[in-house]
Amino acid sequence: MEGSIIYFDNAATSWPKPEEVYKAAENYLRNGGANPGRSGHTRSIDADRLVYEARERAATILGAGEPEEIVFTFNATDSLNMAIKGVLEPGDHVIYTSFEHNSVLRPLTSLRRNGTITATMIACDASGNIDIQDIEKAILPNTRLIVCTHASNVIGTVLPVKEISKLARNYGILFLLDAAQTAGSIPINLQEIKPHLAAFTGHKGLLGPPGVGLLYVRKGVSIKPWREGGTGSRSEEEQQPEMMPDYLEAGTMNTPGIAGLNEGLKFIEKTGISTITEREFRLAYKLRAGLRDIGRVKLFEPVREHQSVAVVSFIVEGFDSGELGYVLEQAYGILCRTGLHCAPWAHRTIGSFPQGTVRFSLGYFNREEEVEHALKALREIVCRF
Ligand code: ALA
Repeated sequence: MEGSIIYFDNAATSWPKPEEVYKAAENYLRNGGANPGRSGHTRSIDADRLVYEARERAATILGAGEPEEIVFTFNATDSLNMAIKGVLEPGDHVIYTSFEHNSVLRPLTSLRRNGTITATMIACDASGNIDIQDIEKAILPNTRLIVCTHASNVIGTVLPVKEISKLARNYGILFLLDAAQTAGSIPINLQEIKPHLAAFTGHKGLLGPPGVGLLYVRKGVSIKPWREGGTGSRSEEEQQPEMMPDYLEAGTMNTPGIAGLNEGLKFIEKTGISTITEREFRLAYKLRAGLRDIGRVKLFEPVREHQSVAVVSFIVEGFDSGELGYVLEQAYGILCRTGLHCAPWAHRTIGSFPQGTVRFSLGYFNREEEVEHALKALREIVCRF
């Protein structure tokens, strides 16, 4: 472990990537480089093929009905903004949870403040329990959308999204799933969860480079485009072509990022999502168990550990979280994220606002020795200070 780093910030961006991800992004930049679907030359056609292959692969892994339901965006925030601002109309009401990320909270706040919508937040309890009846009670005649994160980016709890989706469908309300923290880490089957819309990012569990996101728009869901412009299709028409995915994909996309993501997806296919889930779970289980045994450590536990992703938040009594993060990096080479994790209401919910927590988020490439090293580091810190 001497001299090397321990990367525990996979919930922000996964690292390292499978070797093929680096190679594919570089290969596209060096040897491809053209705009997909724009020009008639071979490099453009090859790039188009590559984008389609990645779209098809993502659709299969995520259980979408067809590849055209998958739209390439730039990250999950982009996807969430496209979904939220693309479906809401003046006078609509939205329901969301206290575990949502700022990528949901901020668009909703701006729409609320400018008088476009009203919104109701449903409080989860400190370990991530949410009462579906609370959601049902909040439904109004003008409720148009329910937004829910698949898993908390602060304590890892997986929320009962299938049940929430069912509730939304029973009331004819759109359901938007934020799967930024779960895609690639736990199995997702969009045809089982049945959201109308779902947001993903390529740079976390899907193991791609930053700068590529995905938006799932179930066939038949009506949405306004968030950006309009060139698509390479129906260029004679003045308005955005209505066929998917072009309708929502104006402008040159991040093709090197998509080339990398395609390899991340291939890695997931080859490895098997259940192998990835099992490994990440085992590491997180070991980490949580070790943290529980260290005096002065307060662990923020998910309600049912077996229904959580490998995102572990804690504080050490007497330590500022930011300061602890600094010591962990400087003295032990451990890289993690501290503070509020862009989820202020999640921290209010678990009782760690405004100081936040130290968050270790583990990925497939972390090792048991790294967890042991981190636990040893914390034991030392607690004894010494
Ligand atoms: N949403 C990312 C995180 O939780 C960036 O760190």
